Amino acid sequence: MHFIVNITSKLSGSGTTIFTVMSKMAQDFGAINLSQGFPDFDGPLELREAVARHIGSGHNQYAPLAGVSGLLEQIAIKVGALYGYTANPERQVVVTPGATEAIYCALTATIHPGDEVIVFDPAYDTYEPGIRLNGGVARRVPLCAPDFRIDWQRVRDVVTDRTRMIMLNSPHNPTGAVLGEQDIEALREISSRHDILLLSDEVYEHLVFDHREHLSLLRYPDLAERSFCVFSFGKTYHVTGWRIGYCVAPPLLTEAFLGIHQFINFSTNTPLQYALADFLRERPGYHLELAGFYQRKRDLFRDLLASSPFRLLPSPGTFFQLADYSRVSDLPDREFAAWLTREHGVAVIPISVFYENPPEQRIIRFCFAKNEATLRDAAERLAAIPGR
Ligand SMILES: Cc1ncc(COP(=O)(O)O)c(C=O)c1O
Repeated sequence: MHFIVNITSKLSGSGTTIFTVMSKMAQDFGAINLSQGFPDFDGPLELREAVARHIGSGHNQYAPLAGVSGLLEQIAIKVGALYGYTANPERQVVVTPGATEAIYCALTATIHPGDEVIVFDPAYDTYEPGIRLNGGVARRVPLCAPDFRIDWQRVRDVVTDRTRMIMLNSPHNPTGAVLGEQDIEALREISSRHDILLLSDEVYEHLVFDHREHLSLLRYPDLAERSFCVFSFGKTYHVTGWRIGYCVAPPLLTEAFLGIHQFINFSTNTPLQYALADFLRERPGYHLELAGFYQRKRDLFRDLLASSPFRLLPSPGTFFQLADYSRVSDLPDREFAAWLTREHGVAVIPISVFYENPPEQRIIRFCFAKNEATLRDAAERLAAIPGR
């Protein structure tokens, strides 16, 4: 018998995420994949060996709801050392299957039907679905090229008595923009005046360049007390496929967060948690090398493209480089990304997909979290494209 069941997805119209689309296209055309944000090199050997050791020594059953206590403690030590934040490891830290689940749990714990959430345009593509699935309404505030700073007056203009949360992301995907002290001041003023929650996506916390500092909201007690701060071990240790991150928040917010997390994933991969606890204990300074490591890749990639027809935008953080291609083509960015993959063997991300209202611009995103040989190979192909 043949059944046809009609359903209307709660996210109908969202389609498949661009990362899946472009990575598949890269594979189909044998292109160099500078699209999805993941390294083409492995994480630290000791960390990978520690996972094998913990699997071998029987750490294979459910972890506690919030996480393995040794890892919760190491996370509390890390945010204390980095941001001067005192977190109670048992009541303020939750280990999650990636920052992605943490963002979803924070939204689901707090956003009720009709609540408004301020999101910047462009924004990482998981934010809006998480808001919509909870009946919330995303209010987009545009960020403008070339530096994609926040215009705080525009934020003030969209705040209403339904505004429940502002979502921040610094360093910012896809633009690489990072928050400065003036942003923090404006955020303070607006969030306290209107009693607004903050969800701070800080997965690129260690990827801030040119001697700038990452301004985690955990540094500011008045902001931290109303914030979910979300981090990713996947980004920090070059292991995005492990799907592991964490959320740090005040006890009441963490309690609400756990109330959701317990029914979505219950807990996070056990042997990875033990291995990460060991690694954080043994190599607490590992992350200090990351900004230099990625800055060298950024600078190499920018140098290699300097004489190409692509105009490179500033990239003060993340492992992404935006480029204006209007000297190459008039195609809209999705078509241009497909053309570049097909005809020149380099896969990229069209940034219009991160927007609710994409402006008239010709900009694509490259990921430079790649080995030097990959970057050189890609740049050679890109530099050979004629300008107009
Ligand atoms: C801004 C931003 N937030 C969250 C995530 C998801 O992080 P995770 O892989 O830890 O789920 C990503 C991954 O690309 C990202 O770029």
